[in-house]
Amino acid sequence: MCGIVGIVGCKEKLGDMLLDSIKKLEYRGYDSAGITTVSENKILIRKDVGKIDEVNKKVNFSELKGNIGLGHTRWATCGRVTKENSHPHTDCKEEISIVHNGIIENHSELKKELIEKGHKFQSETDTEVIAHLIEDNYDGDIKEATTKALKKIEGSYALGIISAKEPEKLIAARNESPLIIGVGKNENFIASDVPAILSHTKKIIYLDNKELAVLTQDNITVFDLNGNEIKKEINEIDWNAEMAEKQGYTHFMLKEIHEQPRALTETINGRIKNNRVDLKEELNLSSKELSEIKRIVIVACGTSWHAALAGEFMFEELAKISTEVEYASEFRYRHPIISKDDLLIAISQSGETADTLAALREAKKQGAKILSICNVKGSSIDRESDIVLYTHAGPEIGVASTKAFTTQLVVLYLLTLYLSQLRKTLDDNTIQDLIANLRKLPLQLEKVFNNEEEIKKLANIYYNKSNALYLGRGVNYPIALEGALKLKEISYIHAEGYPAAEMKHGPIALIDKEMPVIFVAPKDIYTYKKVLSNIEEVKARGGIVIVIATEGDEEIKKIVDHVIYIPKNLYTLSSILAVVPLQLLAYYIAKKRGCDIDRPKNLSKVVTVE
Ligand code: F6R
Repeated sequence: MCGIVGIVGCKEKLGDMLLDSIKKLEYRGYDSAGITTVSENKILIRKDVGKIDEVNKKVNFSELKGNIGLGHTRWATCGRVTKENSHPHTDCKEEISIVHNGIIENHSELKKELIEKGHKFQSETDTEVIAHLIEDNYDGDIKEATTKALKKIEGSYALGIISAKEPEKLIAARNESPLIIGVGKNENFIASDVPAILSHTKKIIYLDNKELAVLTQDNITVFDLNGNEIKKEINEIDWNAEMAEKQGYTHFMLKEIHEQPRALTETINGRIKNNRVDLKEELNLSSKELSEIKRIVIVACGTSWHAALAGEFMFEELAKISTEVEYASEFRYRHPIISKDDLLIAISQSGETADTLAALREAKKQGAKILSICNVKGSSIDRESDIVLYTHAGPEIGVASTKAFTTQLVVLYLLTLYLSQLRKTLDDNTIQDLIANLRKLPLQLEKVFNNEEEIKKLANIYYNKSNALYLGRGVNYPIALEGALKLKEISYIHAEGYPAAEMKHGPIALIDKEMPVIFVAPKDIYTYKKVLSNIEEVKARGGIVIVIATEGDEEIKKIVDHVIYIPKNLYTLSSILAVVPLQLLAYYIAKKRGCDIDRPKNLSKVVTVE
């Protein structure tokens, strides 16, 4: 959704500092951008539609002076993409300036009341209502006025507010939309997400729902909406500023694809001891509780949902626990039946996805234990879960998820092995074999990159196609889905993923010489031979077949158009290797088509609306 950043006590050139910080949040939305500061007791605002660099060319943010200010990058929810609807928004007298992420549900009623009182509106947004509401309650104290306004609004918000009359104070508030406070030296910050302020501080305070903070350059005080002060913990985060930079890669997505060997290593590290998976310290449930889980229900969205489907396969195959996977967005509206013996797993890279959070809360209400697999410490999902297993992927900035996905798969695999150990569904030798193969993954992934030039050539041949099918079976079916999602979201080519055998029940009608069909077909003992038959079916109808196959599989070469080899590993683990060529294929096709890969149209990295 939108990205917010704010600073009080800025020592550098304020306009440049805020510009630099909102650029680091551009993955959250890029319909329009704006910056506001207070200088000589006046609110200054520059904003316009377009991506941040385009807006900057038009308005020159660098010229904005002062030592307190806010920046915003928008993903439009309420109101069209116009200059007037871009943030920041102000009150009638232009003495209060605000930026907002979220949706104010009762904005129409409030706007009507405010218009009746004589307030003049300039935009169609819900956000502007908040500015006027604060103005309406202002009696010399911006904190008091904001508190009163917040009591009247319903909905989600992360807010940054500055005022010309109290230029030493930055007000921040949150409800259901993420907002963090960065603690600096004689300067303090707010931001929607850590990367925006990483180059300034690693000390973070996480605001909770219905909390409001007053930041001055040397003080931070947090209150509830009744005005009671709340003591907050300062957390030190372990990401560094370089992790949120492109480091010579043309796009964040390519950098993040290449970071996967390291991300996998970091996700495995410390979780294997004496040839056993050890999650004891992270899973604060007793062995008895874990052994007694009757059913696992996994909720997630998008790419994380694909990881969930692979997880289902792992839990059932190895730990022998019945598992169901749900779209988080559907879960709570279909009256799910959840019991205390269920373990609900929420998977989310950002930890802020509104649908996943809502599903988690529904399951919690019904008494399930909540375990989340999450990449962002301090995020809402992290904080509302009983147990969290982190994917140590580092910040993922590219809108298309890559390293978050493979690290989610690794965490699911580790959890499966841990539960298998406790429930004794696998013997020691098998566990050791599985662990040894898991440990091979990072190095094997490095080898996948040896095929990058070949993948680029394939992209150059097929970048102009309008459709693509991705097929796989078993644990490779979610990999096929993920390959199709990657292609459609960054290249805008229509792509579908199916279980390979399902093709003959309908999608086969689409096959012709214009249709590339990408099979995920590493050699396995379960379905490989059947997949070969599916490949023959496509070839017989003139389709183009590209296959992800296991090194050494020379036979497959004879029946398909192109093969991309991946190193040999166990069936389930090879799916983690198989997705990487699909990520690269999508990347190079999108690049050849001239797409804006890190900022695909209509998408946002963090979806905080249901
Ligand atoms: C696709 C993608 C999205 C996310 C989805 C859930 O590349 O990134 O489909 O996977 O929006 O996001 P998280 O994992 O943050 O809950």
